[in-house]
Amino acid sequence: MLKDLRPKITAIISDSDTSIDMRLQGICTLLKESVPYYDWVGFYFKNGDKEELKLGPYAGEPTNHTIIPFGKGICGQVAVSNENFVVPDVKAQDNYIACSLNVKSEIVVPLFLNGKNIGQIDIDSKTPDPFTKEDERFLELVNAQVAKILE
Ligand code: SME
Repeated sequence: MLKDLRPKITAIISDSDTSIDMRLQGICTLLKESVPYYDWVGFYFKNGDKEELKLGPYAGEPTNHTIIPFGKGICGQVAVSNENFVVPDVKAQDNYIACSLNVKSEIVVPLFLNGKNIGQIDIDSKTPDPFTKEDERFLELVNAQVAKILE
């Protein structure tokens, strides 16, 4: 159950002896290892003043897409829409950046700091159409927790 992960997320976030990047890394690893259909979990953040996203901590296969311009791919679209983007079938998307041929579906949830969209959590799945409203609510909560340590 996703909600069983909440106390673990809180514990990672609260560990102020650990760097922010290591804590984000811990969240990515926890999610990837705990949820069978989460095959790649990563954070992207706005790259300074540029209209692009830069890859932060992630768990899963390395990706070439460390920089994504705003508007490009699912991630780049969320950077400008400020809305969750659930993709049940990546093949049905024309504005999509493929990281691995095995990926069937994707969810991207924006991360807000003081009401501003500063990044996102991105999850790829090898399972077709696995994401529900429960994933959306859970990932919104994860991002809200992360925002607290980014202030
Ligand atoms: N599929 C994403 C690119 C990032 S990778 O999934 C890690 C997109 O279309 O924006």
